Amino acid sequence: LHNTEKNFRGTPIDELNRLPQCAPPLSRLKANPGHTVTIRTDLLREGKVPIPYPSKFQDSWDDAHVKMPCSEKNMFPIETEDGSGLQSRWDLIHSSLRRGFKSCLDVRDAVLRYNIAHSKKWDFTALNLLCTEYLEHVEVQHLFEGILPKMVDLALSAPQLCTMPIPLLKAKKNHSLTMSQEQIACLLANAFFCTFPRRNSRKSEYFNYPEINFNRLFESSSLRKIEKLKTLLCYFRRVTETKPTGLVTFTRQTVNNPPHWESSQALLTRLHVTCEGIIEENGYGMLQVDFANRMVGGGVTGNGLVQEEIRFLINPELIVSRLFTEALEPNECLIITGTEQYSRYSGYAESYKWVESYKDETPRDDWQRRCTEIVAIDALNYKVSIEQFLPEKFTRELNKAYCGFYRSNKAPKDLSAIATGNWGCGAFGGDTRLKALIQLMAAAEAGRDVAYFTFKDARLMAEVHKMHSFLSERQVTVGQLYCLLNHYYNEVCKNCHTGRPDVSLYKFIYEKVPPSTTSDIAFPANAAGMSSGT
Ligand code: AR6
Repeated sequence: LHNTEKNFRGTPIDELNRLPQCAPPLSRLKANPGHTVTIRTDLLREGKVPIPYPSKFQDSWDDAHVKMPCSEKNMFPIETEDGSGLQSRWDLIHSSLRRGFKSCLDVRDAVLRYNIAHSKKWDFTALNLLCTEYLEHVEVQHLFEGILPKMVDLALSAPQLCTMPIPLLKAKKNHSLTMSQEQIACLLANAFFCTFPRRNSRKSEYFNYPEINFNRLFESSSLRKIEKLKTLLCYFRRVTETKPTGLVTFTRQTVNNPPHWESSQALLTRLHVTCEGIIEENGYGMLQVDFANRMVGGGVTGNGLVQEEIRFLINPELIVSRLFTEALEPNECLIITGTEQYSRYSGYAESYKWVESYKDETPRDDWQRRCTEIVAIDALNYKVSIEQFLPEKFTRELNKAYCGFYRSNKAPKDLSAIATGNWGCGAFGGDTRLKALIQLMAAAEAGRDVAYFTFKDARLMAEVHKMHSFLSERQVTVGQLYCLLNHYYNEVCKNCHTGRPDVSLYKFIYEKVPPSTTSDIAFPANAAGMSSGT
């Protein structure tokens, strides 16, 4: 094929590393101070539902753990003759959900019984519309007779399933948490019924955590909510029909010593760039980038419906990370290994539609996790476009991407390629050319190849490929590129008053890099040694 007919440029995708083939065998799964494991690792068997550990519910109603709905410390004020008293909120949740539902109004009434403070504000229009307008009669019947009762059972089994206190993954702390898919389903059923305490007010102790209760998913009459509900109910139907047997690991990673970008000698790694396909489908087995919000999952339980929210909907186990992941700091990411895809979708944002249930056949690793590794990295939201060329800003993005891509104690040959795309360039207004370069630099420094999905943008594919070939041929180092970015800011952006640079970044780079770098000296001295200022 001629280059112009090919739908990709660069290295063929099948030459890039994927899991499970590229990874060396895992050591045995074992809990340690940096890794909480909530199941019996000694009894872990392929195809068997993992056994929770410990055997009895252990309560930790404190700052370091998720406050569980089934805790005996979870109390609810009640009117008593002598004034006000307190009642177990879990008992109230039990009795409310056990009354059974004949219609979605019963669901609303049950949820509001233990969320009285919000009974005036919470709105259940979307749930109502779903049941009355958008589902077939038989589907509604199945929902009320099959799915919802089983979801209630699942939610109420929290004291038997989620017996170990769940550590909060707090800012500035590296920690991993491995749970079973069944435990996650139980937690998500609780989120659906809005049972998590202290999570309904922005002013609470969880102000720096994402929302977890699903109340906002039920509100408003937008089609988005209908499609989101269909997608999540498909998940709940699947996990209540057949118990999932795998595990999922959530790792909060902080990088305290970022690379010295200006002196990096790294050369760009290999690049596959294509205008066809999407990260989650064509990037199977690779490290898949979630274009995240610092509150992981972004607007998944609210209105958002772009890359991150869609991924969280089709792989709903991702949503549970919102229960325990504090807002990400600039040098942090969240790595999620093992989630399963339960739905197929079409469209995007306004046109998003749930299509059908999806059977995920991704192989599992020795810890019974699907070989699907996703990394949440949040770009900055640029309201003023030119700001992203400020050295302070692009350095922040470099460090963020590097944090997502870097793995300590792992040789580059064992690492999967990175499946990414226009990170930060949709809702967050970033420049695709700059962000592609930043990700290539971070990938080079982390020693990983890149598969870049331009999301139907053929011109971007051609331009990123051309730049990558140019820089590779001339052996331009990441350090030299970093200096060029600084230059670009000082020479083109700093004194630009129109808000748009007069010379594009790529044009600038083509002009500044000399025809051939046969020796180090050939590289412009002003670019090679500078960090800021002209
Ligand atoms: N595969 C490859 N590329 C994609 C895909 C996909 N599946 N989906 C979208 N793109 P955006 P951001 C491309 O706006 O700018 C959320 O609310 C497409 O070109 O989701 O980083 C988060 O929670 C799209 O325009 O990411 C944050 O709050 C571009 O990727 C916020 O959005 C960017 O997708 C992050 O916004």
